Amino acid sequence: MKRLQGKVAVITGAGAGIGRATAELFAEEGAAVVIAERDEATGREAAERITQAGGKALFVSTDVADEASVARMAAEAVAAFGPIHILVNNAAVFILKGIEATPEEWRQILDVNVMGPALVAKHVVPAIRQAGGGAIVNLASISSFIAQPNFVTYNTTKTAILGLTRCMAMDLAPANIRVNAVCPGVVWTQIVERQALAMGLDRAGADVHPQWAGAQLIHRCADPREIAFAILFLASDEASFITGTHLMVDAGYTAR
Ligand SMILES: NC(=O)c1ccc[n+]([C@@H]2O[C@H](COP(=O)([O-])OP(=O)(O)OC[C@H]3O[C@@H](n4cnc5c(N)ncnc54)[C@H](O)[C@@H]3O)[C@@H](O)[C@H]2O)c1
Repeated sequence: MKRLQGKVAVITGAGAGIGRATAELFAEEGAAVVIAERDEATGREAAERITQAGGKALFVSTDVADEASVARMAAEAVAAFGPIHILVNNAAVFILKGIEATPEEWRQILDVNVMGPALVAKHVVPAIRQAGGGAIVNLASISSFIAQPNFVTYNTTKTAILGLTRCMAMDLAPANIRVNAVCPGVVWTQIVERQALAMGLDRAGADVHPQWAGAQLIHRCADPREIAFAILFLASDEASFITGTHLMVDAGYTAR
């Protein structure tokens, strides 16, 4: 029996990286997936690949920071697949700045990384209520717990996700909706690759560098699918007694 058979899942930022791996895994497990992605090309391609592989997927062009866009996405998702069971708030931007960040940079990252998940929940939760309940998984990070050089903007948003997760879990428990966060360590996605390359590091270099996966107990970057499995667990009925908390998937980065 597939673990998400008959379920409908909305995944933001599912055109690339962890979101895409999650959409592919959820589809393999029987879910119909809504790729709520701002990048038309990658979003469309992700949905096509899943459909070609025999899964159910719909791409909806979505900017999680724009409420009208989010409301449209939720309506299209319900029109295509009916009530929704799972929301994965994955989309984020990586504006990595210290205290020199401009108000415009602060607004951009707060809008996408913090307000975005709240807006998406606001418009998707009514459809989860229609389904009789479900699960929300928010993407936090090791950056929710540790200091990193010149990461003031990003780490502030990822720390906020933990508060968002706990408060949403409290408010939505009566509706039978569980809310949890996943906190990945260093995952080899486009953004990590770009930053590693800027430091002159390839993947093998990032695996051992003390500021990258070298700081983990397992000295290698994760594949996005390794994070997707943790998201799948929290989204599935196997996690029926888990809400308001976070799961570290960081290869021991924060265990030191
Ligand atoms: N890669 C890592 O090492 C790592 C570690 C810890 C946490 N995370 C978290 O995991 C999540 C995914 O990270 P990733 O590395 O896969 O990122 P990524 O950059 O590879 O993918 C992010 C996707 O989100 C989309 N997106 C960005 N802004 C959007 C918006 N406003 N509306 C809709 N879509 C938007 C992008 O187009 C992209 O497809 C993020 O929340 C990130 O903070 C990543």
